Amino acid sequence: DPTLLAEGEKVFKKCAACHKVGDDAKNGTGPLLNGIVGRAAGDIEGFKYSKPLLAMASEGLVWDDASLHAFLENPKGFMKGTKMSFAGLKKEDERAAVIAYLATFAK
Ligand code: HEM
Repeated sequence: DPTLLAEGEKVFKKCAACHKVGDDAKNGTGPLLNGIVGRAAGDIEGFKYSKPLLAMASEGLVWDDASLHAFLENPKGFMKGTKMSFAGLKKEDERAAVIAYLATFAK
C-alpha cells in the first residue's frame, strides 16, 4: 500500500534523529533498524543496549507487529528502564504506518 508507506516514511522522521535505515545505515543514538521487523530484540551488532532491553531479549522478545505496537505506543511502559528516550506514538495508524515502512528495509 503506497499511501501507508508514504505515511510511514513521514512518521519515521520522528525516529530518524536516533535511528537510520537503508544501505548506509549505521548505529547512532539508537541501533540501525534494517531488518528489525521479525528480528530478535537486542540483535544489532555493535550497539550497546540497556540492561532491561537485553533482559527482555534473553527472555525471547522478538520485534513482531504486536510487540512493536506495544513498545512504540509507550516505550517506557513496555520496557521499564529502556534508554530509548521517546514519548511514543499514541496513534495506532501512525504506528501501523511506521511498522509497514520499517518492514521494507531488509537485513
Ligand atoms: C531501540 C524503534 C524513536 C533511541 C529501539 C528499538 C526499536 C526502535 C524497534 C529496539 C531495537 C533492537 O532491539 O535492536 C524506534 C522507532 C522510533 C524510535 C520506530 C520512532 C517512532 C527513537 C528516538 C530515539 C530512540 C527518537 C532517541 C531519542 C533508541 C535507543 C534504543 C532504541 C537508545 C535502545 C534502547 C535500549 O537499549 O533500551 N527503537 N525508535 N528511538 N531506540 Fe528507538
